Amino acid sequence: MATVAVAGKGGTGKTTIASLAVRYLISKGETPVLVVDADPNANMGQTLGIPVPITVGAAREQGFAGDRDIPGGMTKDQYVEYKMQEALAEGDGFDLLTMGRPEGAGCYCFANNIIRRYMDELAGDYPHVIMDNEAGLEHLSRRTTRRTDVLLVVSDAGVRGLGAARNVLDLAAEMKVDVGEYMFVLNRATPEAAAALMPEIERLELPLVATVPEDAGLFDAEVAGRSLIGMPEGSPAVDGTTPLFDKIFAAQT
Ligand SMILES: Nc1ncnc2c1ncn2[C@@H]1O[C@H](COP(=O)(O)OP(=O)(O)OP(=O)(O)O)[C@@H](O)[C@H]1O
Ligand SMILES: [Mg+2]
Repeated sequence: MATVAVAGKGGTGKTTIASLAVRYLISKGETPVLVVDADPNANMGQTLGIPVPITVGAAREQGFAGDRDIPGGMTKDQYVEYKMQEALAEGDGFDLLTMGRPEGAGCYCFANNIIRRYMDELAGDYPHVIMDNEAGLEHLSRRTTRRTDVLLVVSDAGVRGLGAARNVLDLAAEMKVDVGEYMFVLNRATPEAAAALMPEIERLELPLVATVPEDAGLFDAEVAGRSLIGMPEGSPAVDGTTPLFDKIFAAQT
């Protein structure tokens, strides 16, 4: 059992790494995987190749803003849960919950509490949960019961990515996110680049657990609209992440 969250600077490969984690678990028969896309600019639906029926945020706006439209005989709780079920997209070997827009200033506290409780209950039904996060870690901090076993901090070989990695660590501590283990992933980098960056990486105080090479096949898949679940064994991105996932999930299964 593992709950793995991915965080880091925009554009560094969070969604790609999260999608490859789903691919890995499916390839090992560790299914069903619950995928939570907690980035408001959601795109796990695209990288995993399934349509998103409705986001949790949109469902909240549509249904939770008032008492209207609640079918007779349903309590508010039941209605919210029913709406949440609509937001859960079923894929082959995984289910995807897309959070969509954040809670915002107008507080539907009642609905949000139910959403949180529902998500915690839902997560309990799956052996593994993979969560793609936005920079602010908002959803992660709002989880109530389940701990995040592994927080994967992703960066490319750029200075800004590394700086953002440090911020993730500080933010997670500040927001009291319950993290079992932090792991640092250097994406789109050669071993030489990783070696050259070692002094910077050591300053992060995050263990570098994987260096993932550039893989042109990811771009091809994106352009062709192909799911990353179909990325083949032997491709640089798959081979570059397999030891990482072996490490995470061997320890957790
Ligand atoms: N190892 C890699 N080799 C080649 N291309 C990559 C690699 N990792 C990611 N990419 C590409 O970089 C782009 C950004 O990746 P991705 O969407 O995973 O980043 P992100 O951190 O989730 O971005 P955002 O913050 O916008 O959500 C994508 O086009 C993706 O295909
Ligand atoms: Mg992303």
